[in-house]
Amino acid sequence: MSRAGWTVRVLTLFPEMFPGPLGHSLAGKALEAGLWSLEAVDIRYFASDKHRSVDDAAFGGGPGLVMRPDVIDAALAAVMGVAGPERAHPDAGPLIYLTPRGRPLTQDRVRELAAERQVTVLCGRYEGVDERVLEAWKVEEISVGDYVLSGGEPAAIVLIDACVRLLPGVMGDAETLAEESFEGGLLEYPHYTRPQEWRGRKVPEVLASGHHENIRAWRRAQSEATTRERRPDLWAAIGRHRQ
Ligand code: ADE
Repeated sequence: MSRAGWTVRVLTLFPEMFPGPLGHSLAGKALEAGLWSLEAVDIRYFASDKHRSVDDAAFGGGPGLVMRPDVIDAALAAVMGVAGPERAHPDAGPLIYLTPRGRPLTQDRVRELAAERQVTVLCGRYEGVDERVLEAWKVEEISVGDYVLSGGEPAAIVLIDACVRLLPGVMGDAETLAEESFEGGLLEYPHYTRPQEWRGRKVPEVLASGHHENIRAWRRAQSEATTRERRPDLWAAIGRHRQ
């Protein structure tokens, strides 16, 4: 097997969740082919007390437990190959913590992450991670959407999947990538296949016309209408670029 081109390291209390869905289909085939590699690191390994505790009650009170900064620090130092955050190597690649408090993940950021050699992802459980260790390591906080998951692991799977499909050699057709949702800031146009009539519903005539210019214009108009209706935020952002 050739040395993987893109490496992701996941720090988690549940290493057995990986590769999980990433071991199947497109990402799984690419993993097997050595186009990328994944290392799941068990945070609990870095707990130093006799109970191997990784969390504790929140200062200030309130429900839920907080992951301890000393344990996360030891885990980060080990995977980054340095003594502590002040020694962090500039070539270590992005260090990401997945949290609903993070900046929303975008296709632009996914593209940048896929262009890195290596990405490190920290997954939290419980109420999250002590703020000081995130500050000390200058961690980038990312959210995969405005809803709360049970932990960072499913979010990590989302982020990694989005990156892997952009890696060279993973998806055959560059045109497919160029036309999909978010490329050019628009949602994608709808798709149709055979049969041409199904339950009384016909495929839009223009698509069977063979007239490439009309097809292109129809698809563009569909993309614009769907974006305007479903995602006024994206639509407004495009308007600003065009000015
Ligand atoms: N952890 C829990 N919910 C999350 C979300 N929406 N995005 C990223 N990480 C999370």
